[in-house]
Amino acid sequence: LFLRYKNEMKEAYTMQNFDYQTPTRLIFGKGVISALPEVMKPLGQKILLTYGGGSIKKLGLYDKVKELLKEFEIYELADIQPNPKYNPSVLEGVRICKENEIEAILAVGGGSVLDCSKAIAAGAKYDGDPWDLISYKVKAQAALPIVDILTLAATGSEYDCGGVISRTETNDKIGYMDELLFPVCSILDPVYTFSVSKKQTAAGCADAMNHVMEQYFTEDTTLLNDGFCESMLKSLMVNAKKCLENPEDYTARAEMMLCCTYGCNGILSLGNSASGWPCHGIEHALSAYYDITHGEGLAMITPRWMKHILNDRTVGRFVKYGVNVFGIDSSLGQYEIADKAIEETYRFFESIGIPMHLREVGIDESRLSEMAHHVAVNEGLENAYAPLSESDILDILEASL
Ligand code: NZQ
Ligand code: ZN
Repeated sequence: LFLRYKNEMKEAYTMQNFDYQTPTRLIFGKGVISALPEVMKPLGQKILLTYGGGSIKKLGLYDKVKELLKEFEIYELADIQPNPKYNPSVLEGVRICKENEIEAILAVGGGSVLDCSKAIAAGAKYDGDPWDLISYKVKAQAALPIVDILTLAATGSEYDCGGVISRTETNDKIGYMDELLFPVCSILDPVYTFSVSKKQTAAGCADAMNHVMEQYFTEDTTLLNDGFCESMLKSLMVNAKKCLENPEDYTARAEMMLCCTYGCNGILSLGNSASGWPCHGIEHALSAYYDITHGEGLAMITPRWMKHILNDRTVGRFVKYGVNVFGIDSSLGQYEIADKAIEETYRFFESIGIPMHLREVGIDESRLSEMAHHVAVNEGLENAYAPLSESDILDILEASL
């Protein structure tokens, strides 16, 4: 009976309308940084260069950028931390932009540097408290143009209009999106990711895989989108392993970088019904409360979330995932395939060295209820593909301990 009902529902499904544009120019490959002066020139003379804790100096990238832009007037914002902070980084960046009439931002680093730069770009053109924009109290009317040189394959921030900003005093970690914040141009040279540590390589892979899964596990999808997603998941798993074995494997780093770039700007789910991005909703609380690495938090949550939502309504998606991504024997029973697929997901994350228990990253049971409440109130997961109440969220967190 259930299956018949489900099939009738399927016939009634119509592909969702969409309005899609990603205006970002991608320049990809070895040595493409040479395009930087030409890219920056039309944007202005006064540039704010943003970066993190020093990896770009070790890479020689800082010197290279300064040399290529010697004709420009460069201001700097350094020390942007992972899980970038509103205070001081965003506020400080906005101050520098306003005081010096900055015309464009050049973000050099991983997702945290890019995300922070996006919030600065909007804040610089706004008269009030930039938190008004990040918290969606006010819609930005303008933003400074952003160019980035990506050094870590993970978030897809280089090809989307979102940034995730943490505000320590309120335990908020907010995903802030605005179409004004697409980078004008992203310079993607996989060679700059050779030095990424094993930990961050694995976390980046888990983050990008979860971006794909957040779009794959939903009610209505197309064969086309499912194919994109399944192929990306396979590519990420194969290439992450190669990058871990040989960090200077150019082809593996390059394919991983491109997968990550495609992961988060919605292109994988055009026409699909919305999923609600539940694992991200839950993970944001983990990294807001405990400042853990985003991709690691996602890897821990994902298989527990899968187990929690597996039921007669969702099992079909898990069967497709298990058969097409992990090559599980399609003649097995539905639940057997689904259980194996979830187990394979867990084992893969474990095999690339990700800690798979919250306790391993310093999270115990003491604040799980508080976090579950925070997620339930702020993330709207009661509308997700598999709706999650506060107690569902708590169960998933407890299972991840
Ligand atoms: O600070 P530095 O010295 O640069 O070191 C960084 C940092 O310690 C280091 N690193 C970066 N490139 C390197 C390198 N080390 C050696 N060699 C290199 N080439 O790696 C560490 C982590 O960097 P980070 O930028 O924090 O990592 P990631 O790119 O994973 O970004 C994570 C942030 O992005 C958000 C996450 O929530 C998190 O705050 N996300 C942003 C998204 C978006 N904009 O669309 C979507 C994601 O779902 C995610 O939420
Ligand atoms: Zn993510």
